[in-house]
Amino acid sequence: MCGIIAYKGEENVVQIIIDGLKHLEYRGYDSSGLCIVSKNKTFLIKKTGKIDNLLEEVEKKQKRNEMTEGEIGIGHSRWATHGAVTEVNAHPHFSCDREIFVVHNGIVENYESLKKELIKKGHRFVSQTDTEVIPHLIEEYRKNNTFVAACEKTFQRLKGLFAIVALDKKTGEIIGTRNGSPLVMGIGEKGLFLASDIPAFLDKTNRVIFLDDGDMVHIINGEEYKIKNLISKKYLKKKINIIDWDKEEAEKGKHPHFMIKEIKEIPEAIKKATWQDKKTLQSVVNLIKKSSGVFFVGCGTAGHSCLFGQYAFSSLLGKRTGFSAASEFKNFLPALDKSALLIAVSQSGETIDTLEAVKKAKEKEIKVVSLVNVMGSTLTRISDYVLMINAGPEKCVLATKSYLSQLAVILLIVFSVLGQEQKGEDRLKKISRELHQLFEDKKFISQIQKLAKQLSSAEHIFTIGRSYDYPTALETALKIKEGCYIHTEAFAGGELKHGVIALIEKGTPCIVHLSKSEEEENTLINAMELQSRGAYIVGIGPEKKKDFDYFITVPEVEEAFSPLVNIAPIHLLSYYIALEKGIDPDKPRNLAKSVTVK
Ligand code: M6R
Repeated sequence: MCGIIAYKGEENVVQIIIDGLKHLEYRGYDSSGLCIVSKNKTFLIKKTGKIDNLLEEVEKKQKRNEMTEGEIGIGHSRWATHGAVTEVNAHPHFSCDREIFVVHNGIVENYESLKKELIKKGHRFVSQTDTEVIPHLIEEYRKNNTFVAACEKTFQRLKGLFAIVALDKKTGEIIGTRNGSPLVMGIGEKGLFLASDIPAFLDKTNRVIFLDDGDMVHIINGEEYKIKNLISKKYLKKKINIIDWDKEEAEKGKHPHFMIKEIKEIPEAIKKATWQDKKTLQSVVNLIKKSSGVFFVGCGTAGHSCLFGQYAFSSLLGKRTGFSAASEFKNFLPALDKSALLIAVSQSGETIDTLEAVKKAKEKEIKVVSLVNVMGSTLTRISDYVLMINAGPEKCVLATKSYLSQLAVILLIVFSVLGQEQKGEDRLKKISRELHQLFEDKKFISQIQKLAKQLSSAEHIFTIGRSYDYPTALETALKIKEGCYIHTEAFAGGELKHGVIALIEKGTPCIVHLSKSEEEENTLINAMELQSRGAYIVGIGPEKKKDFDYFITVPEVEEAFSPLVNIAPIHLLSYYIALEKGIDPDKPRNLAKSVTVK
């Protein structure tokens, strides 16, 4: 959701904050702002819209000599929750004396009562946000305390999930804390960073401290810092982790959008998904074997990986398996006890619904295995076992490569439980090579571009698949909805004739996922049922079928692996439809990459 970046050090602060915000823009982007402190002067700039609007304003001010370089800065990209998208509501927010500036991600649940209390004490509020209570409360405590003590007292009064960074103009100190929302610290050669996510400062340093809930970081100068946990009240010496993500991986490079870059990285991502720590994988295999059943939780695309996991665990392992969207998990929890195993899947590792499901399972002593992409994210810290999916940074709001990495890790687990880990790994590596070839195939790409042109004017699209192709159909619908703003609905092939077929009219586009399985014939029958009611049938599968209006051929693979090859053309299709419609595929409207609020 919102993105936070803060820096104190010797380098060009304005540039660092702007670059950091650009890297974080994927988290939320309806407005942004920054506050720079330079020789006891503050420069506060806020803008609605894209970060470029903020950059333009900064450049204007610099040209007119209205803004100088600074030593300390905080920045924020906002995805509105409380208060409309306006410059006033954009962060940083400030105290009455304009000495304390705050950026915040999350929600202060008790802000109304705090605001009343502060107004009674004479504080003047200018915005409609929950955030604004924070600088005022710090200001109130600051009257009789140091900045650090005032922050500590303030943070302890806030209810809800949040990450906060506060800056004191007077002392030049920066204080950050987190409770349920992400905040990491970067240790650079020439300064210290706080940010919502590592890519925000990855071009400056790969030395990172992962903060835990309740940790409060006090940045004294560009080198010195203290970390205290506000729950245990102890000062901590935390490990500095070296992040092996390549900084180029977090950049667009020669590609016009992150989405196409990340789609092209799919073959590599599948290969890297097989790089699992053998010991952890074996522990997970043992847990699965001895569990009474496995329950998967995830949201959106990760939820579709979970549904795939349910199909694979049930059909290939004969394991009792359940799945629910993480936000619905509480309804299923009563049926689970500590003999069960929870598998949580999340690219970001910060999705609030998934984190809450995990916390609830842990309260019942249910062991949790998580499949995550972002190192050090909250999910990795609260799970019993973690398998990293190794997709590398994914910045486009639409999950593409991370989905295939999740599927690959699930398949690797399944084959390991079957005692056929090598076979699973070999199959995945072969698919990685085949998809690489497919993405290089100009004819294949232009076939998808042509289809994108045709479908870009569609109002409704339907998509079907049976068995393993059903999660694929659901993911197809999500990709076309969020990336192309076209209403797309997915159904299990057999379900169509139970009602939905009434919606099919002449020319309605229907995408049919096929794979080599005993269900293929039945899916073909469903496709023909659609066609005879006028639908325009697009097939995706390993063998071209003559009666289809359009057919995209993908490599032939064993049934359980078909979701990997069947979704790849959809990623490209969604990308090219978005371009046809003039949509920015990296940042579709109303969406944020990680959903850290309920
Ligand atoms: O970071 P997560 O995998 O937990 O995110 C889950 C969903 O928010 C995410 O998959 C979302 O549905 C994407 N926009 C899908 O493209």
